[in-house]
Amino acid sequence: MEIETCIKGRRSVRKFTDKHISKDDLLAIAELCRWVPSWKNTQSVNYHVIMNKDLKEEVAKNCVLDFTFNTQTIERADALVVLTYDKGKSGFNPDGTVTTPEGETWGMFDAGIAAQTFCLAAYEKGIGSVILGIIDAGKIAKACQLPENKIVAALIAIGYPLQKAKEGPARKAATEIMEVME
Ligand SMILES: Cc1cc2nc3c(=O)[nH]c(=O)nc-3n(C[C@H](O)[C@H](O)[C@H](O)COP(=O)(O)O)c2cc1C
Repeated sequence: MEIETCIKGRRSVRKFTDKHISKDDLLAIAELCRWVPSWKNTQSVNYHVIMNKDLKEEVAKNCVLDFTFNTQTIERADALVVLTYDKGKSGFNPDGTVTTPEGETWGMFDAGIAAQTFCLAAYEKGIGSVILGIIDAGKIAKACQLPENKIVAALIAIGYPLQKAKEGPARKAATEIMEVME
């Protein structure tokens, strides 16, 4: 798939069919996600894919700050990706001090790149996705029994799209988002 088709064609998908995503397809997505850039190549991002229905339901019901719109999306999804990054890696020096005034926020930056890469790689395989930020990160970490050093950045609900994507929400013009300073 051409990069332009991929970037422009990906839409947030919130309604999915019952078709299951194969582990082979998930691994093929991970194979591409290995190549994302990260702070000093620390590669601290992980994708924890919840296939277990009970755990997915627990996250849907109890870990989205009572935002029922997200509950419904997760319930419809075939699987749910918990995107994490490791504490104290991105944005940090080897001695544990922060490198820039932005402190530990670079972890979220790495996770953002990883999330978009995941969604584009999934789209190329015909798999729909939506990034979910209205979540209770602490509760998700607990429900998934994640190790102490993992910080939950976002969820990504995934599955095969129920319907063909409509045109995306309106976007600003290119000249509005870019300033060329000569
Ligand atoms: C950081 C982030 C958080 C988001 N959180 C949610 C969310 O909690 N629930 C949801 O339905 N969509 C969420 N979205 C999806 C956006 O609403 C969506 O990307 C935007 O409306 C543009 O539509 P498009 O993805 O189809 O181009 C989030 C997207 C991003 C990047």
